[in-house]
Amino acid sequence: MRVGFGYDCHRLASGKKLILGGIEIPSELGVVAHSDGDVLIHALCDAILGSASLGDIGTHFPDWDKRYEGIESEKILVECMDMLRERRLKVVNVDATIILEQPKLGPFRKSIIENLSRLLKIPEDKISVKAKTKEGMDSVGKREGIEAYVVILVDEEGS
Ligand code: C5P
Ligand code: MG
Repeated sequence: MRVGFGYDCHRLASGKKLILGGIEIPSELGVVAHSDGDVLIHALCDAILGSASLGDIGTHFPDWDKRYEGIESEKILVECMDMLRERRLKVVNVDATIILEQPKLGPFRKSIIENLSRLLKIPEDKISVKAKTKEGMDSVGKREGIEAYVVILVDEEGS
């Protein structure tokens, strides 16, 4: 078995969308990014690539490359999963934590997990999505940003 860890953060601003795990969350503030700014999927992709020692998102989808301009995070995730399968590895489980002051993510957890289950092709009970505030501290606590941390466990196909 192998473990993978991923992290991502983005700035928040008004008039932007907040998309987490492919689900749009109604929010006063959204993410400032070239892409859809889905910090949860970006951290998940780095965790997947990390588990197989395949580098990071920037290695495979450089932001200077026109082909990846504004690319949907879901597409990046599907490609990362393809790379994992090529290495004959499968995801055992995923555990994620999103750090965000507002809004509360509890009501959206089920939709996020359902969508990730569809994309990763693993059952919902293998996916955990948690949320925390930063208790008003630092930039994330001041609602200037959002962070996501993801760990995954992968195993060899067929074991
Ligand atoms: O950060 P704090 O300890 O106050 O979070 C308490 C609980 O609030 C979390 O365990 C989580 O269930 C929920 N929460 C949430 N959405 C956030 C932050 C926290 O649903 N953005
Ligand atoms: Mg607390």
